[in-house]
Amino acid sequence: VVAPSVLACDLLRLDEETAPFEGERDLWLHLDVMDGHFVPNLTFAAPVAEGLARARSLPLDCHLMVENPGFHLDALARAAPHNVTLHLEACGDPAGIVRLVRAAKARFPSAGLALKPATPFSAVPKEVLPELDLLLVMSVEPGFAGQRFMPESLDKVREARRARDEAGLSFLIQIDGGIDGDTAPQAREAGCDVLVAGSHVFQGGPRSYRERALSLRGGA
Ligand code: DX5
Ligand code: ZN
Repeated sequence: VVAPSVLACDLLRLDEETAPFEGERDLWLHLDVMDGHFVPNLTFAAPVAEGLARARSLPLDCHLMVENPGFHLDALARAAPHNVTLHLEACGDPAGIVRLVRAAKARFPSAGLALKPATPFSAVPKEVLPELDLLLVMSVEPGFAGQRFMPESLDKVREARRARDEAGLSFLIQIDGGIDGDTAPQAREAGCDVLVAGSHVFQGGPRSYRERALSLRGGA
């Protein structure tokens, strides 16, 4: 699965910018919800997600970089995203992580948990792993598109994949940040199932977006 991050597109033209992906299989639209607190940057939230949901039939993938994920879980209900990912660092203690992941699962088909570069895989409470549909390994500091890929994130991907396979679980492993033609094959090789890409995809005008996104999937 490849997930173009609309943060990197021309946000004044969200409709035209996302139209080239319409009808594509295994393609999600990735929405970076930022609140100016959990990360310094401020983007968009449920109202924009609702507009996009009306315009596109593609699955929406909401990445919540916010201090109060519980509020956004409720607010996003009408946009009906396919997946909503919470940041572990925003969920409080292990009980809070479990509670919020369950709340996301109760509302949406898929619930994810994201790890900042400094958060180890071991910070994910063992009891939450079987409930996860997706684990997001950040390969840049969350907050901005166009940053350099952190290669050490691939070790976390490998560790997560090993733990998943050993436990017989099936959550998808997603990577986000600095994915391009060079880093996508490395990420796939390390075991990533879902590649998020912003700057790499939204280059050269709408007619090249689809091809740029699909090329990241390689032969798979
Ligand atoms: C960063 C966001 C990413 C970002 C990716 O906080 O989570 O989704 O838009 O952009 P690129 O692919 O340009 O690193
Ligand atoms: Zn993101």
